[in-house]
Amino acid sequence: MRLSHFFFWAAAGAAAVTLDELARDVERVESLREIKDVTATFAQLAQFGRYRDMADLFTDDGVLLWGNISVTGPEAIGKWLEEDAGDMNGMIRPGSLDTLVLATPLVNLAADGKTAKGRWNGWRFQGGGGKTRMQGGIWENEYAVVMEEGGRWRWRVRVMRYYGLYEGDYEKGWRNVGGRDFGTVPEFHYSAEEAGVPIPKAVGTPGAGGVTEGEIGRRIEDLNDEDEVRNLQHAWGYYVDRRLWGEVGELFGSHDWGVVKVDNVGVFEGPGGIREGLERWMGPEGLSQGVLNEHLIFDTVVKIRDEVDPEVPNAEKMADVRGIEIGLIGDQDKGTASWRFSFFQNSFIKRNGIWQFLNVTIAPLVVANYSDGWGNGGVMPRSTVAPVFLDYTTRSTKKPSTQTTSTDSLPELSRRLSRSYAYEGAESISNAYGFYIDFIDGAACSLMAAIHHPLANKESPFAGFYHTRQRVLDACTASYGTSSRPTRSGISFHWRPQPVIHVSQDGRSASLRARLLQPATDKTSAGTIRGGMYHDQMVLDENGSWKLWSVTIDEFYWAMNNWTEGWGGVEVRDKNAPDQPPPRDLVRQFPPDLWLNEMEGEREIGFMGGRGRYVSWPEIQRMWFGYRNPVSGGVPKDGSYWPGCVPCYQHKPEWGMTKHSWQEPPTGPTLVRAMFAAGNGSSEWDDGTFISVSVTPGPGEVVEGVVRLVGREIELEYELSEADGGRVTFELPRNMSGGFHMLEATFSGSNRLNPGRDTVDLTLPGGPGSLLGD
Ligand SMILES: *[C@@H]1O[C@H](CO)[C@@H](O)[C@H](O)[C@H]1NC(C)=O
Ligand SMILES: *[C@@H]1O[C@H](CO)[C@@H](O)[C@H](O)[C@H]1NC(C)=O
Ligand SMILES: *[C@@H]1O[C@H](CO)[C@@H](O)[C@H](O)[C@H]1NC(C)=O
Ligand SMILES: *[C@@H]1O[C@H](CO)[C@@H](O)[C@H](O)[C@H]1NC(C)=O
Ligand SMILES: *[C@@H]1O[C@H](CO)[C@@H](O)[C@H](O)[C@H]1NC(C)=O
Ligand SMILES: *[C@@H]1O[C@H](CO)[C@@H](O)[C@H](O)[C@H]1NC(C)=O
Ligand SMILES: *[C@@H]1O[C@H](CO)[C@@H](O)[C@H](O)[C@H]1NC(C)=O
Repeated sequence: MRLSHFFFWAAAGAAAVTLDELARDVERVESLREIKDVTATFAQLAQFGRYRDMADLFTDDGVLLWGNISVTGPEAIGKWLEEDAGDMNGMIRPGSLDTLVLATPLVNLAADGKTAKGRWNGWRFQGGGGKTRMQGGIWENEYAVVMEEGGRWRWRVRVMRYYGLYEGDYEKGWRNVGGRDFGTVPEFHYSAEEAGVPIPKAVGTPGAGGVTEGEIGRRIEDLNDEDEVRNLQHAWGYYVDRRLWGEVGELFGSHDWGVVKVDNVGVFEGPGGIREGLERWMGPEGLSQGVLNEHLIFDTVVKIRDEVDPEVPNAEKMADVRGIEIGLIGDQDKGTASWRFSFFQNSFIKRNGIWQFLNVTIAPLVVANYSDGWGNGGVMPRSTVAPVFLDYTTRSTKKPSTQTTSTDSLPELSRRLSRSYAYEGAESISNAYGFYIDFIDGAACSLMAAIHHPLANKESPFAGFYHTRQRVLDACTASYGTSSRPTRSGISFHWRPQPVIHVSQDGRSASLRARLLQPATDKTSAGTIRGGMYHDQMVLDENGSWKLWSVTIDEFYWAMNNWTEGWGGVEVRDKNAPDQPPPRDLVRQFPPDLWLNEMEGEREIGFMGGRGRYVSWPEIQRMWFGYRNPVSGGVPKDGSYWPGCVPCYQHKPEWGMTKHSWQEPPTGPTLVRAMFAAGNGSSEWDDGTFISVSVTPGPGEVVEGVVRLVGREIELEYELSEADGGRVTFELPRNMSGGFHMLEATFSGSNRLNPGRDTVDLTLPGGPGSLLGD
């Protein structure tokens, strides 16, 4: 790996990174995380009507701009929020609901690291006292860091600017605010180039922070851990949506103490109990026609604990997660459809280097059937689980790591930090895409194209893939022309929430799965919601900017027909209708470089524009996964596994990032298993003197890297090559002392594979110092 390619500017070029420079970079990534956490906490507090606490997240001179309202200072902001909500404040009374979600952040830190700007999509569902209200739009916020006593910094909101774009009550649905055409697009705080640079190059020399390498090591390790835990939480959601109970169970690892508590529903314990409970609550494995089981996850805050809970066995580290869930649930054949507004608070442990679920608490606040809405209380008692709000302000005050050793050099720490920065870069450029496509026209086409790498490929839904940025641009202008559209009567939004992001070992590339969540609004008719899935890749370019490398859009998995019927009343597609509609005129005039319907194999079967008969909600389309189970490492049981860049995997390998100096990001954990291997009888040794170590990657992935077996008396090492097939057998030295030995087997990882480890316990006969066989 070449140091010159790390993002962190301090490390770029020949100059070696200093500890102070690295400390500054750590603080900048932590800042970005805290800004997202402040905003998510603002949303989480609204669910409980805690408007004063929301106002306390502002700076003393903070301003709330809500449409044409302007309020200054926490005191006034709290009062305004409270009055604006009125009865619809989420407090315990029938029908009272205030679920606000702020999603799809694109945050840019200022060069001095002291202020930031962030764009968000937001939705608010309120009810109470018989009334309902829905609002949606764009937030353009400003943030500032405030020094507190003891030198601790804290991020606060300086300006919260809400551009309301659609609103309405439940009965009539939402429409454009004011029933007008949209004119100007809510101003973007960033340029296309800046969208890929959430943290710009720092200016000046860093102050002497007085931090140690151990502290910095721990803080970077926690940032890396946050990424894994957030992925795990988001991956949970995708498995639950498809009722993949086998996959869900595997997220608890192989131990037997997992707990899922669904308030007012039940407490499910252990692998069998969890599966049975979830089946009873949500239905059997898999989806059948007409079943919608969407659980949209928003505002996830991850906190890595300082200490592990001594009650929990084998925990190397622990973490807590807090978030908001909006459920769109139903079974069209049974005539049921409901909304479920919940919060969740879950705990996680790290074991053998792999994060896994420990327990889950889901607390439904309002469950309402679609036909009645939530204005009069819903159909279930409100949860009485006391919500926790995680303290996200402690990242910079961690004790030194016990896992970071003095051999972790500064360049190595810098590499690890660049992987967490990559997570941010990938999320940022992903959301940049959605924000541009929302307001697509000739002008937005150039912005949308500009966030692609010159060698990128991008799908045009129902048609195919265009390869190179120029072709992506030309395809867009073929559809939308080159000039900006002065007004538009409606918008279909392209939210990309709930990302699962896998970052390469060198922090220069990433694979991302995110929802396509598409609320639509119009001037005259009530809005609708639809859902699809994105499978993307992104790369860090030579100018230090994140760019899209590959964009695949699987749509639609489900859709509302209209507001009145919701997701319940959608007619099944006529069995006698043609398998596929004729291609759009535009794509015939400007043919893709790879048509969906020429992609042999299973990948595009059932998609509109793809192969075979297209599948349309309420029929159930196959769901693809680009990653393996984040805990068990297994591929989806039905084989719906398609890693990396979608057109590259089987059809256009030459479009792949590894052909252009980027590493292919890992697809999941690398499982390492160390176990006894019997001798072959030729030795005077007893069985159990051989330890075999196997390293299991994903399908088609080659294991190369160093395996080490280390105990108090031994240190054995072997370099695996492709020919070893991921397995090595070590013969233990004959002079090891009798008694108990704990051996740790580690795999170093490679350009493609994550590192991994396992332990094995060994008791040799004979007392201390005696030779075996004596
Ligand atoms: C502010 O906007 C609301 C509705 O959007 C409107 O009713 C009100 O008249 C406006 N107030 C001012 C001062 O423009
Ligand atoms: C809506 O809820 C009521 C109970 O409040 C129930 O009687 C009715 O069947 C539900 N309708 C649907 C479509 O689920
Ligand atoms: C989950 O585990 C954490 C940590 O041990 C514990 O504090 C919490 O009470 C547990 N929650 C449930 C629902 O078991
Ligand atoms: C990097 O920046 C230079 C100068 O602006 C530009 O010519 C080049 O195309 C950029 N590289 C990429 C990959 O966009
Ligand atoms: C909604 O769709 C249904 C068919 O699913 C149709 O019968 C009904 O007229 C539509 N309602 C409106 C308001 O468009
Ligand atoms: C048995 O194992 C030993 C040590 O690994 C090896 O040298 C020997 O060739 C093996 N014998 C047979 C018959 O496989
Ligand atoms: C076992 O023998 C090796 C050399 O053959 C030596 O390096 C090692 O120190 C010995 N270990 C013990 C525990 O005596």
